[in-house]
Amino acid sequence: MKNGNKSAMEIGLIGLGPMGLGLSANAAAKAITVQAWERSAELRSTARSAGVATVHDDIVGLVAALTAPRTILLSIRSGRPVDEVLAVLAPLLGPDDVVVDGGNSNFHDTERRQAAAAAGKARILGAGISGGPAGARDGPAIMAGGPREAWQCAAPLIRAMAARAGNVPCAEWLGTGGAGHFVKMAHNAIEYGVMQVLADIAETLAAGGGLVGGDAADVIAEAGTGLAGGYLLDVSCRVLRVPAPDGAGYLIDRVDDRAEQTGTGAWFVQAAADLGVAAPVIAAAVGHRAFSNGSPLRRAAQVAGGVAGIDKQGVLPAVRPALEAACAIAFGEGLALMQATGPRFGDPLPLARIVRVWRAGSILQGRLSDHLAEALAAGDWVDPVRTIVAAGRDDLRRVAVAAQTAGIPVPALAAALACADGIDGALSTRLIQLQRDYFGGHGFRLRGAGTKDHGPWHKE
Ligand code: 6PG
Repeated sequence: MKNGNKSAMEIGLIGLGPMGLGLSANAAAKAITVQAWERSAELRSTARSAGVATVHDDIVGLVAALTAPRTILLSIRSGRPVDEVLAVLAPLLGPDDVVVDGGNSNFHDTERRQAAAAAGKARILGAGISGGPAGARDGPAIMAGGPREAWQCAAPLIRAMAARAGNVPCAEWLGTGGAGHFVKMAHNAIEYGVMQVLADIAETLAAGGGLVGGDAADVIAEAGTGLAGGYLLDVSCRVLRVPAPDGAGYLIDRVDDRAEQTGTGAWFVQAAADLGVAAPVIAAAVGHRAFSNGSPLRRAAQVAGGVAGIDKQGVLPAVRPALEAACAIAFGEGLALMQATGPRFGDPLPLARIVRVWRAGSILQGRLSDHLAEALAAGDWVDPVRTIVAAGRDDLRRVAVAAQTAGIPVPALAAALACADGIDGALSTRLIQLQRDYFGGHGFRLRGAGTKDHGPWHKE
């Protein structure tokens, strides 16, 4: 593979939606020549007007305009569109060419495509690209996986386009197969958890404390001076402060609360279940989006408010430590799943390098990523997370209990509190063991016993 040794930097780019256009502008700003194609004629025209790429009318023209060995970056919707584009590219590319799928593909799909890439044909890398269109333009965080030699070819281009933390590109090859898309899935799942924690806090302040929009943002912004500070907290404060279209009140009070999701969070919950990894905060976040947007139990979306008040004097000072503890648990759930993959992607997933990649450009950029990147560089993530959780547990309880007493659903805070209390406490799951043994004969262990036993109900 010689791609990286070409004198002029050039890249093929398929997909000129918001992400693709951002990536194209990013590449052009780094003096990378962009040969692009997009299925939509309208988007092709928009990109031509933007002048950041040579936009071809078809993929054949794009490939012909690139000098082998080629690197072609896909920025298209996951699923069938990726398979369709790969089918067009396959006969046009050779063994030195590399296709980088930069969408949010499911890692199983990526591995299927890598396996299907015929010998002597282009190699396929799966790259999770985080930061949204703004990040794509200014510098995203990029988590790649697949054949190592393919990464070595594409790396100069990918690294040139990536955000930088401490002048180090936030772009890494993380392992073989679907490693890149697996890590992006974990990244997105942590994002789901942190977003739901922030939403629970904001709802508690609004519905329970009458602190709406900018008033809630002020409380959350103060909490952001601690470890929970970062991109997602800043975005939350920014959108909370936006006035309603008619200027009466805030936009947040007019929003239909049925939340959407495009899959990565749900895939994470499945992967965690498959590996027996606990992910209650992330599962609560995924589940609450589904509940908000389709549970048959739910009546039409209600207008927020109309619940009992909270004790603001007690709750407001608790917000920052509660936020830090709950977000740390969400990060821990993502790290635990990546850690549980073992040799699945070749070497164990490099957690320290992964969290370092998240330090700039990514949606998870912020103090917790910085803190955990440093902790992982020095050793492990478990004790640092436990320390944050222990420090915030009582405040987490204060906020979660105040909200729930006031009738405000706070699924992520409640799940985080159960985690926090479960770190050292006894768990109710001991009854599960007896139940399972009673009706299923599965046996149980007494504390400290090495072997399983059955209850008297099986000995009569
Ligand atoms: C990122 C984001 C991005 C994702 C959006 C929407 O890291 O830039 O995670 O990749 O597409 O967050 O995801 P959901 O539709 O699943 O919320």
